[in-house]
Amino acid sequence: MALYTQLMNNLDTLALSKMKENLEPVVNKTINDPNYSFTDALLDLTNAEITFRDERARKINITISSFPYQKTLKDFDFTYQATVSKEKILDLATLRFMENKSNVIFMGSPGVGRTHLATALGMEAAGQRISTYFINFATLMEKFKQASKENRVEQVVKHYLKYSLLIIDEIGYLPIDRNASYGFFQLVAARYEKRSTILTTNQPFSKWGEVFGDTVIANAILDRLVHHCEIIKINGMSYRLKGKNIFEED
Ligand SMILES: Nc1ncnc2c1ncn2[C@@H]1O[C@H](COP(=O)(O)OP(=O)(O)OP(=O)(O)O)[C@@H](O)[C@H]1O
Ligand SMILES: [Mg+2]
Repeated sequence: MALYTQLMNNLDTLALSKMKENLEPVVNKTINDPNYSFTDALLDLTNAEITFRDERARKINITISSFPYQKTLKDFDFTYQATVSKEKILDLATLRFMENKSNVIFMGSPGVGRTHLATALGMEAAGQRISTYFINFATLMEKFKQASKENRVEQVVKHYLKYSLLIIDEIGYLPIDRNASYGFFQLVAARYEKRSTILTTNQPFSKWGEVFGDTVIANAILDRLVHHCEIIKINGMSYRLKGKNIFEED
Protein backbone atom coordinates (compact mmCIF):
# COMPACT_ATOMS: atom_id res chain seq x y z
CA MET A 1 0.00 0.00 0.00
CA ALA A 2 1.29 3.45 -0.85
CA LEU A 3 2.69 5.30 2.16
CA TYR A 4 0.25 8.17 1.72
CA THR A 5 -2.72 5.77 1.69
CA GLN A 6 -1.35 4.05 4.78
CA LEU A 7 -1.10 7.40 6.55
CA MET A 8 -4.68 8.28 5.58
CA ASN A 9 -5.85 4.91 6.94
CA ASN A 10 -3.97 5.51 10.19
CA LEU A 11 -5.66 8.89 10.61
CA ASP A 12 -9.01 7.14 10.04
CA THR A 13 -8.18 4.48 12.62
CA LEU A 14 -7.21 7.16 15.14
CA ALA A 15 -10.36 9.17 14.26
CA LEU A 16 -8.28 12.25 13.40
CA SER A 17 -10.69 13.52 10.76
CA LYS A 18 -9.47 17.13 10.65
CA MET A 19 -5.83 16.07 10.38
CA LYS A 20 -6.90 13.86 7.50
CA GLU A 21 -8.82 16.67 5.83
CA ASN A 22 -5.84 19.00 6.09
CA LEU A 23 -3.18 16.45 5.20
CA GLU A 24 -2.98 17.11 1.48
CA PRO A 25 -2.51 20.91 1.57
CA VAL A 26 -0.05 20.57 4.45
CA VAL A 27 2.01 17.92 2.64
CA ASN A 28 2.01 20.12 -0.49
CA LYS A 29 3.22 23.05 1.61
CA THR A 30 6.12 21.02 3.01
CA ILE A 31 7.13 20.25 -0.57
CA ASN A 32 6.72 23.77 -2.00
CA ASP A 33 7.83 25.95 0.91
CA PRO A 34 11.40 25.39 2.12
CA ASN A 35 10.68 27.47 5.25
CA TYR A 36 7.78 25.25 6.25
CA SER A 37 9.26 22.63 8.53
CA PHE A 38 8.07 19.20 9.63
CA THR A 39 7.28 20.73 13.03
CA ASP A 40 5.21 23.49 11.38
CA ALA A 41 3.28 20.84 9.49
CA LEU A 42 2.56 18.75 12.57
CA LEU A 43 1.61 21.84 14.52
CA ASP A 44 -0.88 22.95 11.83
CA LEU A 45 -2.39 19.49 11.60
CA THR A 46 -2.79 19.04 15.35
CA ASN A 47 -4.15 22.59 15.74
CA ALA A 48 -6.82 21.85 13.12
CA GLU A 49 -7.87 18.75 15.04
CA ILE A 50 -7.88 20.52 18.44
CA THR A 51 -9.87 23.53 17.17
CA PHE A 52 -12.46 21.19 15.67
CA ARG A 53 -12.74 19.12 18.87
CA ASP A 54 -12.99 22.19 21.11
CA GLU A 55 -15.81 23.59 19.00
CA ARG A 56 -17.61 20.24 18.97
CA ALA A 57 -17.28 19.88 22.76
CA ARG A 58 -18.56 23.45 23.20
CA LYS A 59 -21.65 22.69 21.10
CA ILE A 60 -22.31 19.38 22.88
CA ASN A 61 -21.98 21.03 26.28
CA ILE A 62 -24.43 23.75 25.26
CA THR A 63 -26.89 21.13 23.98
CA ILE A 64 -26.79 18.98 27.12
CA SER A 65 -27.30 22.06 29.32
CA SER A 66 -30.93 22.01 28.10
CA PHE A 67 -31.46 25.75 27.61
CA PRO A 68 -34.98 26.73 26.51
CA TYR A 69 -33.43 28.67 23.62
CA GLN A 70 -29.93 29.67 22.60
CA LYS A 71 -29.56 33.38 23.17
CA THR A 72 -26.46 35.29 24.12
CA LEU A 73 -25.67 38.74 25.47
CA LYS A 74 -25.09 39.91 21.91
CA ASP A 75 -28.80 39.29 21.27
CA PHE A 76 -29.79 41.40 24.28
CA ASP A 77 -30.84 44.99 23.65
CA PHE A 78 -29.60 46.86 26.73
CA THR A 79 -31.04 50.15 25.48
CA TYR A 80 -34.56 48.69 25.76
CA GLN A 81 -34.09 47.67 29.41
CA ALA A 82 -32.70 50.77 31.13
CA THR A 83 -32.71 49.24 34.65
CA VAL A 84 -30.27 46.53 33.56
CA SER A 85 -26.67 47.63 33.95
CA LYS A 86 -24.73 46.44 30.91
CA GLU A 87 -21.47 46.71 32.87
CA LYS A 88 -22.80 44.50 35.64
CA ILE A 89 -24.04 41.87 33.19
CA LEU A 90 -20.75 41.90 31.26
CA ASP A 91 -18.94 41.45 34.56
CA LEU A 92 -21.18 38.47 35.38
CA ALA A 93 -20.36 37.08 31.93
CA THR A 94 -16.69 36.87 32.96
CA LEU A 95 -18.00 34.19 35.39
CA ARG A 96 -15.99 35.75 38.20
CA PHE A 97 -19.03 35.17 40.43
CA MET A 98 -18.50 31.44 39.99
CA GLU A 99 -15.01 31.63 41.44
CA ASN A 100 -16.60 32.98 44.63
CA LYS A 101 -19.44 30.43 44.45
CA SER A 102 -21.85 33.36 44.38
CA ASN A 103 -25.40 33.24 43.04
CA VAL A 104 -27.33 35.49 40.70
CA ILE A 105 -31.05 36.24 40.96
CA PHE A 106 -32.94 37.95 38.13
CA MET A 107 -36.15 39.45 39.43
CA GLY A 108 -38.90 41.08 37.42
CA SER A 109 -42.22 40.76 35.64
CA PRO A 110 -42.90 38.66 32.51
CA GLY A 111 -40.99 39.34 29.31
CA VAL A 112 -38.31 41.64 30.75
CA GLY A 113 -35.46 39.30 29.80
CA ARG A 114 -34.83 37.26 32.96
CA THR A 115 -34.67 33.88 31.18
CA HIS A 116 -32.71 35.45 28.31
CA LEU A 117 -30.01 36.83 30.63
CA ALA A 118 -29.85 33.65 32.74
CA THR A 119 -29.50 31.60 29.55
CA ALA A 120 -26.84 33.93 28.13
CA LEU A 121 -24.71 33.52 31.29
CA GLY A 122 -25.30 29.78 31.18
CA MET A 123 -24.26 29.63 27.50
CA GLU A 124 -21.06 31.42 28.43
CA ALA A 125 -20.29 28.81 31.09
CA ALA A 126 -21.34 25.82 28.99
CA GLY A 127 -19.27 27.20 26.11
CA GLN A 128 -16.24 27.05 28.40
CA ARG A 129 -17.10 23.42 29.14
CA ILE A 130 -18.26 24.17 32.67
CA SER A 131 -20.97 21.67 33.63
CA THR A 132 -24.16 23.69 33.43
CA TYR A 133 -27.82 22.75 33.63
CA PHE A 134 -30.98 24.74 33.07
CA ILE A 135 -34.19 23.59 34.72
CA ASN A 136 -37.58 25.09 35.21
CA PHE A 137 -38.54 25.53 38.88
CA ALA A 138 -41.87 23.72 38.42
CA THR A 139 -40.10 20.72 36.88
CA LEU A 140 -37.55 20.64 39.69
CA MET A 141 -40.24 20.81 42.35
CA GLU A 142 -42.14 18.00 40.63
CA LYS A 143 -38.94 15.91 40.81
CA PHE A 144 -38.61 16.62 44.53
CA LYS A 145 -42.26 15.82 45.14
CA GLN A 146 -41.91 12.48 43.39
CA ALA A 147 -38.57 11.76 45.08
CA SER A 148 -39.96 12.40 48.54
CA LYS A 149 -42.73 9.85 47.86
CA GLU A 150 -40.07 7.34 46.85
CA ASN A 151 -37.68 8.22 49.66
CA ARG A 152 -34.85 9.31 47.39
CA VAL A 153 -34.61 13.08 47.91
CA GLU A 154 -30.94 12.69 48.76
CA GLN A 155 -30.23 11.22 45.31
CA VAL A 156 -31.99 14.13 43.60
CA VAL A 157 -30.00 16.61 45.70
CA LYS A 158 -26.79 14.76 44.79
CA HIS A 159 -27.69 14.83 41.10
CA TYR A 160 -28.27 18.60 40.98
CA LEU A 161 -25.32 19.28 43.24
CA LYS A 162 -22.90 18.00 40.63
CA TYR A 163 -23.48 20.90 38.20
CA SER A 164 -20.99 23.73 38.63
CA LEU A 165 -23.69 26.10 37.43
CA LEU A 166 -27.37 25.35 37.94
CA ILE A 167 -30.01 27.67 36.49
CA ILE A 168 -33.45 27.47 38.07
CA ASP A 169 -35.97 29.40 36.04
CA GLU A 170 -39.17 31.04 37.16
CA ILE A 171 -39.58 30.68 40.89
CA GLY A 172 -43.17 31.74 41.39
CA TYR A 173 -46.52 30.71 42.70
CA LEU A 174 -47.30 27.04 42.27
CA PRO A 175 -49.25 24.68 44.40
CA ILE A 176 -46.08 23.48 46.16
CA ASP A 177 -45.90 20.33 48.14
CA ARG A 178 -44.24 20.95 51.52
CA ASN A 179 -41.90 17.98 50.98
CA ALA A 180 -40.83 19.46 47.63
CA SER A 181 -40.04 22.78 49.37
CA TYR A 182 -37.93 20.93 51.90
CA GLY A 183 -36.13 19.06 49.12
CA PHE A 184 -35.39 22.39 47.44
CA PHE A 185 -34.04 23.73 50.72
CA GLN A 186 -31.70 20.73 50.96
CA LEU A 187 -30.42 21.41 47.45
CA VAL A 188 -29.82 25.10 48.20
CA ALA A 189 -28.06 24.17 51.45
CA ALA A 190 -25.89 21.60 49.65
CA ARG A 191 -24.85 24.09 46.94
CA TYR A 192 -24.28 26.94 49.42
CA GLU A 193 -20.68 28.21 49.14
CA LYS A 194 -19.82 25.20 46.94
CA ARG A 195 -21.48 25.87 43.59
CA SER A 196 -23.13 28.83 41.90
CA THR A 197 -26.83 28.96 41.09
CA ILE A 198 -28.68 31.41 38.87
CA LEU A 199 -32.36 31.91 39.62
CA THR A 200 -35.11 33.89 38.00
CA THR A 201 -38.29 34.91 39.76
CA ASN A 202 -41.36 37.05 39.31
CA GLN A 203 -41.87 37.31 43.06
CA PRO A 204 -40.22 39.73 45.52
CA PHE A 205 -38.48 38.00 48.45
CA SER A 206 -41.29 39.15 50.76
CA LYS A 207 -43.59 36.74 48.90
CA TRP A 208 -41.32 33.69 49.02
CA GLY A 209 -43.02 32.47 52.20
CA GLU A 210 -46.19 32.11 50.14
CA VAL A 211 -44.25 30.67 47.18
CA PHE A 212 -42.83 27.86 49.30
CA GLY A 213 -45.92 27.49 51.44
CA ASP A 214 -43.80 27.81 54.58
CA THR A 215 -42.13 30.96 55.93
CA VAL A 216 -39.50 29.09 57.95
CA ILE A 217 -38.31 27.05 54.94
CA ALA A 218 -38.49 30.11 52.65
CA ASN A 219 -36.34 32.14 55.06
CA ALA A 220 -33.80 29.34 55.35
CA ILE A 221 -33.64 29.11 51.54
CA LEU A 222 -33.33 32.88 51.09
CA ASP A 223 -30.72 33.22 53.81
CA ARG A 224 -28.37 30.84 52.01
CA LEU A 225 -29.14 32.06 48.50
CA VAL A 226 -28.60 35.75 49.11
CA HIS A 227 -25.55 35.55 51.40
CA HIS A 228 -23.26 35.65 48.34
CA CYS A 229 -25.50 36.89 45.58
CA GLU A 230 -25.88 39.45 42.81
CA ILE A 231 -29.55 40.52 42.74
CA ILE A 232 -30.63 42.06 39.44
CA LYS A 233 -34.02 43.76 39.57
CA ILE A 234 -35.49 44.51 36.17
CA ASN A 235 -38.25 47.09 36.28
CA GLY A 236 -38.99 47.73 32.63
CA MET A 237 -41.68 46.73 30.15
CA SER A 238 -41.93 43.31 28.54
CA TYR A 239 -39.79 43.04 25.42
CA ARG A 240 -42.69 41.23 23.82
CA LEU A 241 -44.63 44.49 23.96
CA LYS A 242 -41.89 46.44 22.16
CA GLY A 243 -43.55 48.84 19.73
CA LYS A 244 -47.02 47.79 20.88
CA ASN A 245 -49.42 49.85 22.94
CA ILE A 246 -51.73 47.18 24.31
CA PHE A 247 -52.80 49.24 27.31
CA GLU A 248 -54.01 52.15 25.22
CA GLU A 249 -57.76 52.31 24.60
CA ASP A 250 -58.69 52.28 20.94
N1 LIG B 1 -33.69 43.49 26.10
C1 LIG B 1 -33.95 42.49 25.24
N2 LIG B 1 -33.29 42.43 24.04
C2 LIG B 1 -33.58 41.45 23.15
N3 LIG B 1 -34.48 40.46 23.37
C3 LIG B 1 -35.13 40.45 24.54
C4 LIG B 1 -34.88 41.45 25.53
N4 LIG B 1 -35.67 41.19 26.60
C5 LIG B 1 -36.34 40.07 26.28
N5 LIG B 1 -36.05 39.64 25.04
C6 LIG B 1 -36.67 38.52 24.33
O1 LIG B 1 -38.05 38.52 24.67
C7 LIG B 1 -38.52 37.21 24.95
C8 LIG B 1 -38.95 37.14 26.42
O2 LIG B 1 -37.79 37.30 27.25
P1 LIG B 1 -37.51 36.28 28.43
O3 LIG B 1 -37.79 34.89 27.97
O4 LIG B 1 -36.16 36.54 28.96
O5 LIG B 1 -38.63 36.74 29.44
P2 LIG B 1 -38.73 36.55 31.02
O6 LIG B 1 -38.30 37.78 31.70
O7 LIG B 1 -38.06 35.30 31.39
O8 LIG B 1 -40.31 36.42 31.22
P3 LIG B 1 -41.24 35.14 30.93
O9 LIG B 1 -40.66 34.03 31.70
O10 LIG B 1 -42.57 35.54 31.36
O11 LIG B 1 -41.18 34.91 29.47
C9 LIG B 1 -37.36 36.29 24.61
O12 LIG B 1 -37.50 35.89 23.27
C10 LIG B 1 -36.14 37.18 24.77
O13 LIG B 1 -35.05 36.75 23.96
MG1 LIG C 1 -38.74 33.39 31.74
